[in-house]
Amino acid sequence: MIDPRNRLNDLSNREWLQETKSFWFSCTPPRSPLKATHPATFSERDIERLIRLFSKPGELVLDPFVGSGSTLLAARACGRRSLGLELIPEWVEVARQRLAEESPSDYADLSAEVQEGDARTLLAELPEDHVDFIVTSPPYWKILRKRPGLKAKAERVDRGLPTHYSENPQDLGNLQDYGEFLSALGEIFEACGRVLKSNKYLCVIVSDFRHGPRFVLYHADLAREIEARGLALKGLTILCQDNKSLWPFAIPFSFVSNIHHQYILMFQKPGPKLRRSGKC
Ligand SMILES: C[S@@+](CC[C@H](N)C(=O)[O-])C[C@H]1O[C@@H](n2cnc3c(N)ncnc32)[C@H](O)[C@@H]1O
Repeated sequence: MIDPRNRLNDLSNREWLQETKSFWFSCTPPRSPLKATHPATFSERDIERLIRLFSKPGELVLDPFVGSGSTLLAARACGRRSLGLELIPEWVEVARQRLAEESPSDYADLSAEVQEGDARTLLAELPEDHVDFIVTSPPYWKILRKRPGLKAKAERVDRGLPTHYSENPQDLGNLQDYGEFLSALGEIFEACGRVLKSNKYLCVIVSDFRHGPRFVLYHADLAREIEARGLALKGLTILCQDNKSLWPFAIPFSFVSNIHHQYILMFQKPGPKLRRSGKC
């Protein structure tokens, strides 16, 4: 039964309680050949869970870095409308084709749109307080541009599949400087905050990464950047990826961790009163 006071989702209080646990096990079914053409996708199943937690049926879900369209398929599976933004024409085409060929039949006519262009420009064209939930995974700086050292990456090279998003200088995955990259992302999340309705949520899925000898706490750097742009950090859920293979990296010389989890950073847009007082 849904609590009549619940304005966020269609879950019973007991179902909602389960989702507040600070770790989830990722559910990652095999990718379709079309989806696998994109070098860095997330699982629709994990996104469906977030969409059910943070929105109601019929509401509008936005992904400003939609890639192969996973969020749009997940939104359809949950009976939500959706809008995806994507810079690279090749991925826009993949997302549109996946919507046409892989959509769950129950909701095949539910609106799901992909707009092509830089998220910075496209978000500026959307009305304020327009979207009910935002979920996305941005580029992880330039990590896809590393030499093909890992087995998975070498396999993509062998199969003639792309190992990075594009050569486009507006692609945030091509920015050289980490500070510049974070501030470009901050600009996009600030614009997300403008188009999100008050008291509604934004979830960002990221993992940390190594850059040369440094271990970069990307999730923490990004959380700070987004908070500075006016959204309130409400929690962080660890998404365990227990299905990945272990890689021996530097054994037996030094410790290098296998990063088998991601973070779901959860933010809320404060209501107008809190925004004015700066307390969020
Ligand atoms: C991590 S991928 C998203 C993958 C997606 N979650 C999926 O499952 O297919 C990030 C995407 O952001 C896109 N991108 C990079 N810079 C962008 C920009 N300035 N505006 C819009 N999209 C951009 C890339 O082309 C890439 O497809």
